[in-house]
Amino acid sequence: MINESISILAVDDEESFLEVLNAALSAEGYRVELAHDGVGAINTLQNRVFDLVLLDVKMPRVDGIEVLRFAREHYLDTQVIMLTGVNDVRSAVECMQLGAYHYITKPYSISELTAVIDRALERKRLLIENKVLKSELARHAFAGNIVGQSKPMLELLTIASKVAPTDSPVLIQGASGTGKELIATFLHQNSLRKNQQFVALNCASIPEALLESELFGHEKGAFTDAIAAKQGLAEIANGGTLFLDEIGEISPMIQPKLLRFLQTGEYRRVGGNKPMRSDVRVISATNKNLEEEVAAGRFREDLLYRINVITLRVPPLRDRPDDIPLLVDYFLKTKVRPHGLKMIEPKALELLVKYDWPGNVRELENVIERASILCKDNLIRVEDIALPIGRRPVLPRDPESAAPTSLLGTAVSMREVEKAHIAGVLKSVGWNKNTAAQILGISLKTLYTKIQQFNLTKD
Ligand SMILES: Nc1ncnc2c1ncn2[C@@H]1O[C@H](COP(=O)(O)OP(=O)(O)OP(=O)(O)O)[C@@H](O)[C@H]1O
Ligand SMILES: [Mg+2]
Repeated sequence: MINESISILAVDDEESFLEVLNAALSAEGYRVELAHDGVGAINTLQNRVFDLVLLDVKMPRVDGIEVLRFAREHYLDTQVIMLTGVNDVRSAVECMQLGAYHYITKPYSISELTAVIDRALERKRLLIENKVLKSELARHAFAGNIVGQSKPMLELLTIASKVAPTDSPVLIQGASGTGKELIATFLHQNSLRKNQQFVALNCASIPEALLESELFGHEKGAFTDAIAAKQGLAEIANGGTLFLDEIGEISPMIQPKLLRFLQTGEYRRVGGNKPMRSDVRVISATNKNLEEEVAAGRFREDLLYRINVITLRVPPLRDRPDDIPLLVDYFLKTKVRPHGLKMIEPKALELLVKYDWPGNVRELENVIERASILCKDNLIRVEDIALPIGRRPVLPRDPESAAPTSLLGTAVSMREVEKAHIAGVLKSVGWNKNTAAQILGISLKTLYTKIQQFNLTKD
């Protein structure tokens, strides 16, 4: 039985409870030790490390809270579950603030107990797994300005740190605003090419006719405006990394030329016939599903195989809510700080953690920036946070009042909030109106009307 390797210390001053615990846990195969009071518990804890401690709250002389403090101070990985009478639920809550995993109210059923134990052990396993990932990451790479401690993010960075020092082409897939560009720079900074250039080309921002010359350069007289020869980014990136952002937007006309360059390192300037060479490592990014693009005939399959030797998927923010408080803190310190230190009230943070973030980290960054402008003093409150109407999560009811917590304060009008919000979303998606309308949950036509009504402009 796998439970044999798991050690549990059960502490209770009531003999009958302790016996029941002992019998139940031994039956599950755990290695159990017993302590009859707080002093005994601390003595035992000093001698060896336990995976889990079941701890009665009320005990004479040294109570459960003191034992908990001791355990938290010396063994951070050890999970503690409090056992409490119906009347000390208040102190049980205090215990959780001190780091206990959970509490169970007596009398409890064995199945209830084992369910909580299972979850606590699972949490311990995850904590340790995260520590391993983090130390592995620290050995391999410099994560620079990437914020993230969640499991999906640590896993991504671990793989990225292994891929970084190779010359393999990497395709970074992820929704808008998830941090694809940040991962691309991470790959470069942790590569052998880190002292050479990182050259980024956004394939979506350049008209098709100019993209080829942007990428491969042109000779003098290649077209009407080509009054002098010009180096392309492929040439400029020689020895370094070429980042092709939004690669899904590259037109079928240019795709074969790019493919040839990736296969042979050779290209020709527009209007030139001399074959040229450049040694670059190519990293691409897209928020499209390129397999679907291939199926639809918009993207060449052979090109996809070339660029996605390794695919990294950046998880959407809603899949890593643990990172939200860290990101908020980071944005408050780096983006907002120059205008004075701001803090955020717990309720507002909770709102952010529960929201589903269709615009991902960029949207969060904008929400924080806006909230810090709207807030009255140095504290960001729930009413300072403008999240799209209709997509807001249901708020927990305020225990003080029967009505649900109001999201909109009285300091700013609805109109202002709406205007700020729409402007923020537009900015966050680089004024891509289709995406903005989707995020806002309104039609494109309504969006145009709002843009006009609020007199919104791109700059
Ligand atoms: N893990 C992170 N830690 C800190 N900042 C982040 C993180 N992820 C994203 N950001 C910030 O969020 C913003 C968006 O990130 P980035 O431009 O890398 O996303 P993207 O996936 O390339 O977006 P798009 O698809 O819109 O091009 C940037 O300002 C970036 O610095
Ligand atoms: Mg990007």
